[in-house]
Amino acid sequence: MQVAVTIAAAREAALRAGKAGLRVGLVPTMGALHPGHVALIEESRRLTDFTAVSIFVNPTQFGPGEDYDRYPRALAEDLRACEAAGADLVFHPSAEEMYPRGTAAATFVEVPALSRVFEGAIRPTHFRGVATVVLALFEILRPDVAVFGQKDFQQQALLRRMTADLHLATTIVTHPIVREPDGLAMSSRNVYLTPEQRRAALSLHQGLEAARLAVVAGEADADRVRRILRAPIESQKEATLDYAEVVDAETLGKLDHIETGRSAVALVAARFGTTRLIDNVRLTE
Ligand code: PAJ
Repeated sequence: MQVAVTIAAAREAALRAGKAGLRVGLVPTMGALHPGHVALIEESRRLTDFTAVSIFVNPTQFGPGEDYDRYPRALAEDLRACEAAGADLVFHPSAEEMYPRGTAAATFVEVPALSRVFEGAIRPTHFRGVATVVLALFEILRPDVAVFGQKDFQQQALLRRMTADLHLATTIVTHPIVREPDGLAMSSRNVYLTPEQRRAALSLHQGLEAARLAVVAGEADADRVRRILRAPIESQKEATLDYAEVVDAETLGKLDHIETGRSAVALVAARFGTTRLIDNVRLTE
């Protein structure tokens, strides 16, 4: 496994793989890797011949007062996890390498249709940071396939839109959410939770499962599904609900009815102390 810290070295390694006829896969991450990230690496290895993993805590997707400085960083362990998962290249640039002229006046890509709602309503500059760094990574590594997690549902929807709108040659693949045995979605931020918050955080999965099962049982009224989704979260005193919604999986527009033939997804976000967690479930296939 090669480790590149410069853009030139990463570009060269991916280019060489492409010239050798290998299909290149990319798994963008911010490190502090857990089994959810490893599943994306394995998915890339199934789909391609050369898997690059980027590890970069991207400053432009953190707002003022967010956890950029305290975001968990664990490079040595991450490199071991990438190696064990069979990655071919790890690209681990510094902030200076990615933003040589600083971040204040950087060039940004915007996906306005999907970046202002939900996570974007609470974190107004978050998604332009995500879209910008992912586009830069695509340009550096020219992947045939890039694998993202369904865990960040809005992020993968927005990156699909960016890829379509800018006619990018990369195919976006979305991998299902990897969960702890009790159902909590794996997240690098779970380490911040106290034991009580950790217990309360299970209500996200409980609400989503209840909503999914209601739809399976024939419930088609989105408001009734929203109430089922909210109830377990609102009953936790450790939890502050930010949103619990039933939306179209592509446009993220709110739905009145859940219909076959139209993809619906339930999205939730809640705070447990200062830790914000998100989760989601597809309500229809
Ligand atoms: P990060 O939070 O490190 O996540 C990297 C990738 O892992 C994302 O595609 C995310 O959806 C996926 N992921 C996280 N937890 C998961 C889980 N439990 N199951 C399945 N996939 C999971 O998302 C980012 O980094 C950044 O915004 C990034 C795209 C790298 C741009 O900076």
